Amino acid sequence: MPTRTLRLEAPDAAACQPAIGRAAALLREGGLVAFPTETVYGLGANALDARAVRRIFEAKQRPAWDPLIVHVTSRHMLDRVADRLPDGFEALAARFMPGPLTILVERSRAVPDEVTAGRPIVAVRMPAHPVARALIEAAGIPVAAPSANRFGHASPTTAAHVLADLDGRIDAVLDAGPTMVGIESTVLDITVSPPQILRAGGLTREALTSAIGPVEIYRAPVADAPPEALRAPGTGIRHYAPRARLVLVETIEALAPVAGRLVAGGRRVGALWPAIPGSPAAPAGVVAVAWGPWGDWAALARNLFAGLRALDEEGVDAIVCPLPPEDGLGLAIRDRLQKAAR
Ligand code: TXA
Ligand code: MG
Repeated sequence: MPTRTLRLEAPDAAACQPAIGRAAALLREGGLVAFPTETVYGLGANALDARAVRRIFEAKQRPAWDPLIVHVTSRHMLDRVADRLPDGFEALAARFMPGPLTILVERSRAVPDEVTAGRPIVAVRMPAHPVARALIEAAGIPVAAPSANRFGHASPTTAAHVLADLDGRIDAVLDAGPTMVGIESTVLDITVSPPQILRAGGLTREALTSAIGPVEIYRAPVADAPPEALRAPGTGIRHYAPRARLVLVETIEALAPVAGRLVAGGRRVGALWPAIPGSPAAPAGVVAVAWGPWGDWAALARNLFAGLRALDEEGVDAIVCPLPPEDGLGLAIRDRLQKAAR
C-alpha cells in the first residue's frame, strides 16, 4: 500500500483543511493515519472499529497484549469511550487537558477489546497539538493511537521517522514538522492512593504533585513477569531501542573517558553529547550528535529520539549517553534510556 504524505506547511488553519479533511476521511473509512501530537507522532485508527484497530497492531508488528491510548478532543467524545471517570479526574482534566497526560478510566462497551487488550480499563488522552485536534474533530470519532514506530523502536518525532518505520504499511502521514515535547505522554492511574505514574512522560511529576499532592512512580517488577501481567504492559520490556548497543553513564565526567575507551577498543562509537560550558568536546573518533544544553531537560527530551535514530543511521555499534537526574523531564528521559539499554 503506498503511503501518502500530506504536508501541512501553510501557517494558517484554512490552508491545511484539505489535507486534514482527506486524513479524516481515511480514518472514517477504517484507514491508518499517522499524525503529530505535541509529544510524538501517533498512528491513528477509529477507536470504535475493531478491524481498523487490528490494522494498527499489524502495521506496527505490536503484540496484542499491549493496549492503545484513545485520543479525544471533547467531553462528549470522552463520554463515548469512558463508562465512569475516577474521582479526581475532573480536577486533573481542568488543569492538564489538553496536554501530554494520559489517564486510565473505566471503558464503555463501545470500546472494542482490541483497544484495551481485553482490560476493563481504557487509557484516554486529549492532545494539545492543533493538527491532532483538527484531525480528530474533522473525523468526529475517538482515535486510538500508539506511537507511530515499529514495535520496540524509538518513537517518531518527525514524519520522516514515521516513514522510515512504516512506509507502505499505513495509508497516510500528516507532516507538520518536528514535535515539541519529543517524549511520550505521562500515563497516570488515579484509582490508587496515592496516584501512580505508570509511565513517566511529558507532564512532569512535579507538575502533577503541585496539582494533586503526592504521586508515586510505578516500578514494573524486575522478575520475568509476562507483560500481560503488568499494570502497564508496555513498560516492562526493551523499548525505544536503537540498533546500536547503548552505554549509559551516570556522571557527566565519565562521558569522555568511557567514549574514548570504546574507540580505543576498536568500536565504531557514537554519543549523545550535551553542551556543557567549559567541558571537553567529544574525543576523536566519536560520532557526536549535539544533544542540547545539559540541564535544559526539555531540549534534551525534544532531541532524544531523533538523536538515537541519527546515530543508528551513522552505523555506529555503540552509543554513549549520560543519564540526567530524575528532576522534571529528566525522569522520563532516564526511563527511556534505561529501557532502550536493556
Ligand atoms: O504521547 C503518547 O502517549 C503517544 C501519543 C501518540 O499519544 N502515544 C504512545 O502510545 O506513546 P504507546 O502505545 O506507544 O504507549 C502507550 C503506553 C503503553 O506502554 C501501554 O502499555 C500503556 O500506555 N497503556 C495503554 N492503555 C493502557 C491500559 N488500558 N492500561 C494500562 N496501560 C495502558
Ligand atoms: Mg510506543
